[in-house]
Amino acid sequence: MKTQVCIIGGGPSGLMLSQLLHLKGIETVVLERQSREYVLSRIRAGVLENGFVKLMREAQCGDRMDREGEIHDGFFIAHDEKMNRIDLHKYSGGNSVMVYGQTELTRDLYEARDRMNGIVIHNAEDVQPHDLKSQAPYVTYRVGDKTDRIDCDFVIGADGFHGVSRKSIPQDVLKEYEKVYPFGWLGVLSRTPPVSPELIYAKHARGFALCSLRSQILSRYYIQVPLSDRVEDWSDEAFWAELKRRLPKEVADKLITGDSIEKSIAPLRSFVAEPMRYGNLFLAGDAAHIVPPTGARGLNTAGSDIYYLYQGMVAHYLKGDSSGLDNYSEKALARVWKAQRFSWLLTTMLHTFPDSMAYDQKLQETEFNYLFSSESAQRSLAENYVGLPF
Ligand code: APR
Ligand code: PHB
Repeated sequence: MKTQVCIIGGGPSGLMLSQLLHLKGIETVVLERQSREYVLSRIRAGVLENGFVKLMREAQCGDRMDREGEIHDGFFIAHDEKMNRIDLHKYSGGNSVMVYGQTELTRDLYEARDRMNGIVIHNAEDVQPHDLKSQAPYVTYRVGDKTDRIDCDFVIGADGFHGVSRKSIPQDVLKEYEKVYPFGWLGVLSRTPPVSPELIYAKHARGFALCSLRSQILSRYYIQVPLSDRVEDWSDEAFWAELKRRLPKEVADKLITGDSIEKSIAPLRSFVAEPMRYGNLFLAGDAAHIVPPTGARGLNTAGSDIYYLYQGMVAHYLKGDSSGLDNYSEKALARVWKAQRFSWLLTTMLHTFPDSMAYDQKLQETEFNYLFSSESAQRSLAENYVGLPF
């Protein structure tokens, strides 16, 4: 098979790019290792910045998001029985975020690809890009016992952190930066009304907690846990009891609990791979960078990669101008690092670090108190949370 752009990975990054390029008349094929059911069963974060919301609309995938998503103008940071509100609207110049689950968003992208007869090949195993430095790269893969090959102009590595694309860049070219945090998040999804109309990030000596939501009948809660904990160690009752301990009493008293419909532990990691281009391979999204979930930057940072790639591809194919593709790595990484900084900052400020020294604890407290004593600090938090410009 022949196409213009072969996209490895059918997560939100790959699907979004495929959809945007299709609308400009650029051909793509998406190769996804998993079945569609599997991809659509993954539970991920659910806060979209304005730039991502606009991309969804531009991709003609925004109708359900606009109907069912919730606009949030602020969120709370709870500590010591106090609920401190960050006014996103006020401090970001009238901006806000959209609460809409990544699972729903991925479903919308798949529906759009189907509607336009986009080619998405599921259960593609042994996916391997070749001749990336040449003008004629190709990708081989296998479905069942049939192997095939896709010839293309460009390969997009949108295959997440564990994908094959980043590993195809030679070791002496690729530089990886990584920070692993000494804890994880235990998350529970429950069919219960959310405890608060706005998100609550809670800083507590027993560990961080987060109250989030997917809708007015579906809640998502998290608590910080040691990396040694396993999901089986946490009954629903134990989870709710621990969550309540970490919230201000007025919130804990209101919390409606129920059976978990999903429960999982995610380790917290910061990671960046540079460069994001190697020959005619371009990395995007989780394939190139990971953030801890504290500032909800993961999907949103993938969004800016996709935007830059989309613009670069359109200029290349429609105007013969390759400067956007040539600058891609540098431009994408500049924004990626700002998201890394913000996620690290929020993670560091809100979590309890098992072996932290008294000095670090004092700094953490000072950082926290400074935030709520300074409008400039709140403005900085708000502008990062709603998303820096692309
Ligand atoms: N071949 C083909 N597909 C692969 C391969 C491979 N070797 N390895 C992984 N994949 C697929 C995965 O099954 C997955 O569906 O690539 C897809 C990557 O999707 P994500 O991991 O969701 O990454 P991305 O699309 O970049 O999404 C950005 O934002 O909120 C964050 O981490 C969260 O997934 C989210 C991300
Ligand atoms: C979520 O709803 O899953 C969520 C929200 C905000 C975050 C992280 C996760 O910062």
